[in-house]
Amino acid sequence: MDNSSKFYITTPIYYVNARPHIGHTYTTVVCDTVARRQRMMGFDTWFLTGTDEHGQKIERSATAAGCSPKEFADRVSAEFRQLWDRMKLSYDDFIRTTEPRHVRGVQQLFTQLKERGYIYKGSYSGQYCVFDELYVDVSEPGAACPECGRPTETVKEENYFFKLSAMEEPLLKLYSEKPNFIRPEARRNEVIAFVRSGLRDLSVSRTTFTWGIPVPEDEQHVIYVWLDALANYITALGYGSGNPKDQVKLARYWPADVHMIGKEIVRFHCVYWPAFLLAAGIPLPKSIVAHGWLLFEESKMSKSRGNIVRSETILDTLGADTLRYFLMREIVFGNDGSFSFDALVQRFNADLANGLGNLSSRTLSMITRYFEGEIPYPSAGARDGSDEAIAELAGKTISEFHAQFEQFQFSRALETTWGLVAAVNKYIVEHEPWAIAEKDDQDSRARLATILHTSAEALRIVTALVHPVIPESTARIWEQLGLGDIRKLDLRNLAWGQLPLHTKLGKVEAVFPRADKSTIERMQQMEQERVAQGTAAVAAETTPEARAEVAPPPAPAAEPPAASAPSSNTITIDDFARVELRVAQVKVAEKVKGADKLLRLEVDLGNETRQIVAGIAKAYAPEILIGRKVVIVANLAPRKLRGLESQGMIVAASLGEEGVPVLAGFLEDVPVGARLK
Ligand code: MSP
Repeated sequence: MDNSSKFYITTPIYYVNARPHIGHTYTTVVCDTVARRQRMMGFDTWFLTGTDEHGQKIERSATAAGCSPKEFADRVSAEFRQLWDRMKLSYDDFIRTTEPRHVRGVQQLFTQLKERGYIYKGSYSGQYCVFDELYVDVSEPGAACPECGRPTETVKEENYFFKLSAMEEPLLKLYSEKPNFIRPEARRNEVIAFVRSGLRDLSVSRTTFTWGIPVPEDEQHVIYVWLDALANYITALGYGSGNPKDQVKLARYWPADVHMIGKEIVRFHCVYWPAFLLAAGIPLPKSIVAHGWLLFEESKMSKSRGNIVRSETILDTLGADTLRYFLMREIVFGNDGSFSFDALVQRFNADLANGLGNLSSRTLSMITRYFEGEIPYPSAGARDGSDEAIAELAGKTISEFHAQFEQFQFSRALETTWGLVAAVNKYIVEHEPWAIAEKDDQDSRARLATILHTSAEALRIVTALVHPVIPESTARIWEQLGLGDIRKLDLRNLAWGQLPLHTKLGKVEAVFPRADKSTIERMQQMEQERVAQGTAAVAAETTPEARAEVAPPPAPAAEPPAASAPSSNTITIDDFARVELRVAQVKVAEKVKGADKLLRLEVDLGNETRQIVAGIAKAYAPEILIGRKVVIVANLAPRKLRGLESQGMIVAASLGEEGVPVLAGFLEDVPVGARLK
């Protein structure tokens, strides 16, 4: 990290089409941790986060939920902010792209690019991926997006174009002159290869939807969502405000020191963003740092896959620090990492409850018991090599922690620190201070004082170092050590031997709760309830009017609805037995592009996953189906709908003349794969 006295760090701004989950929390916690440490290192720090609220994807999510895009964005943006507040994240500003300060700034940037000759009007015809908000290089209508595999849409419009092609050389020069501009190295190489393969001009306006920022003086066009979104990093500081007073922050904090992002948005940040800035004559950020994905059940946690874990579940059981510690320790920064409740509880027990928790409660309660709660004096005569070894290890830990942290090696920095925790716990066990305390002679007393002083000093150092990672519990340990408010600590001066003698300890109590198998079960149960509640909440948010609007739906499923059987047309039990009805759980649900009645579902049948194309899109928004158990006809011959194979049919009641589908379900919990007879 750069060593000037200011430090500006940003998270991506999160799309409001999905509710926050621990994938979003991961990035935000990493930034929060870095920001906290920078403050403790004396930097004037600015930490920005926010929400990305424009674009077709959000317009469509809002329509599906039966409300206006702004109402939809207000609701989800508030959820993000409330979660960050609940986690006491130390962001300095939260930007929303629907705020006037941002809209004004984006329009200013567009105008600036146009005035400098980098934006021109042209026409475009080709395929667009709504999911990625990206024009893609495929020629067939409906062809799969090379990025995400979803079907693309054909668009033909008159657009404004940004001269990205003119930026090829300047970008390559930038990457080679500033090797730290993109980190880690693997991402840098990918970007360089991408730019070397040639850049085409980029369409930066759309006319096929309206939920966006209008192009100045040509309001039929809205500005491309990525130009809109990326600009947040400067509009939040006052760029585009006519008032010089609002631009103090821009002068102070821009350029950003770190844009922290997930690896899937590297191209937008490392190619488009610097290209826009170069063209506009605005200084470039110092570095863009990409991390890997948080996986759950082997794949990237995401709304469309339905494999989401909510942060709230962990906050309600083990607290924010446990989640923070897990994310920073368990995931090797830059790589993908897996989340599981088992791993979370294991990490918590090993490192927090037993590791740091034990060190803290043992040391502090022995000082309370044997020295009336005052840090004892470590007389020189009572010291031996083992105390010196701890002091030496602590010194080494401080320098290694800093070096590793600066390199974004958070997991290693914590591993290093926990090496010290383990060494001190071992030192305590080996010296058995509780046994020494039973002896009354002066030498034993002096030795006991030295051991407890050494342990308390090591505890102080660990607590100080990891305060940015687990702020709440370290603040409590700090107070118990009698050191007051940890926020006043200057981390630059941290060294062995600064623990003030005879400090009176605060009230000593356990900092970490206990966790066992029942905690895991509780968390899993809470997740299931949240999924169910979420489903109900989204359904409730869909107004009756909106439902009526989307009502006249088609067949309840891929197949035409079976007409109710006339009584003469009875079947035997054997006939019925030929129909294989089974319980399945929806894992993926998404709209089928170009077919407003169809949803493409992936359902889990227990031993296999099936793709089903169902005509229920007008009655069910895809996101409310994820996790829901449905009944399917499992032995129906497959058929193709809109080019997609439907491997079964979903069973639903068909209501009214229009045949509004209502999915069959159960009051009791039923296992996936169960057969209906
Ligand atoms: N709105 C854009 C970003 C615009 S920035 C100018 C966007 N939003 S997003 O909601 O999809 O958030 C993406 C970011 O959230 C990722 O880049 C990453 O930082 C974080 N993550 C979302 N899911 C994640 C995981 N499963 N794992 C790790 N990070 C995740 O893209």
